[in-house]
Amino acid sequence: MKERLEALKLEALQELSGVQSQQELNDLRIKYLGKKGPLTEVLRGMGALSAEERPVIGQVANDVRAAIETVIEEKQAAYQQQETETRLRAEMIDVTLPGRPSQQGAVHPLSKVIQEIEDIFIGMGYTVAEGPEVEQDYYNFEALNLPKDHPARDMQDSFYITDEILMRTQTSPVQVRTMEKRKGEVPIKIICPGKVYRRDDDDATHSHMFTQIEGLVIDRNVRMSDLKGTLLQFVQEMYGKETRIRLRPSFFPFTEPSVEVDVSCAMCGGVGCRTCKQTGWLEILGAGMVHPRVLEMGGYDPKEYTGFAFGMGVERIAMLKYGIEDIRHFYTNDLRFLKQFLHL
Ligand code: PHE
Repeated sequence: MKERLEALKLEALQELSGVQSQQELNDLRIKYLGKKGPLTEVLRGMGALSAEERPVIGQVANDVRAAIETVIEEKQAAYQQQETETRLRAEMIDVTLPGRPSQQGAVHPLSKVIQEIEDIFIGMGYTVAEGPEVEQDYYNFEALNLPKDHPARDMQDSFYITDEILMRTQTSPVQVRTMEKRKGEVPIKIICPGKVYRRDDDDATHSHMFTQIEGLVIDRNVRMSDLKGTLLQFVQEMYGKETRIRLRPSFFPFTEPSVEVDVSCAMCGGVGCRTCKQTGWLEILGAGMVHPRVLEMGGYDPKEYTGFAFGMGVERIAMLKYGIEDIRHFYTNDLRFLKQFLHL
């Protein structure tokens, strides 16, 4: 019996040494150590042995079993190690590869100019107000001293939603809304940026939608010279200390007197070039002293209070500042255009 066990051990070890795969190893484990294997069979036959032989053979059987198990375990460990290595290699990440940079966004040039203008006026004590783009006829026209059949409405034909509701043609309705909200209190010092809409041609300098910034100041003793000083301060912060302004008489139903304000051309310094059509000046905004009728309709006694208002075209100001020759660039979202403002 001892010889049989030794032969079994030899046979098993020999077979195990030639093992080629995990599967073969499993098969051999079952073949030699399994319940129906030869070792179990030998052990089962031990009952027939004598009391002296039994521990001797038992010892040999255990040694054989241990020897086979050891080899199987070694091989098993080797397979496991190999498997781990293969998996790690497959999952390997090369941390030395350069990363793929994510695209960096930037503030739109119009937003940027609005922020700049806001900063300048906030520095002068103004707050920023807002109003709706879909506006009532009352706020857009009537309360600004443009009654229903006023001829000046022709200059600002709009997109009507109903007879009484339209896309606002100007940011001036925010003047009226602000006066209503403040209920006769002073001082009022606001600016209001926002989109406005007009029936208009779309070309290099016109767009049916554009951006304005409105300004309104109401208090006691507000004078025309305050308006002039404020606007001069503004353009000099925007375009540089040497910038000058020029006021020309004009007409708006909601201001009296009214002016159009020109700024000395930033391109040529005022000597004359293509941008300013050789005049040295560029028109950037309309302004004036708030009309007594408008103050009254807004709940402010014109005998006690005065004020000034202005409205500027933001695209115009941005085009001058950055030398942009076509207003449509602002709206078509061409990245080649927009990326030029990334680091400004
Ligand atoms: N709302 C006027 C326009 O759009 C500009 C303006 C604003 C003029 C305030 C005077 C005072 O043309």
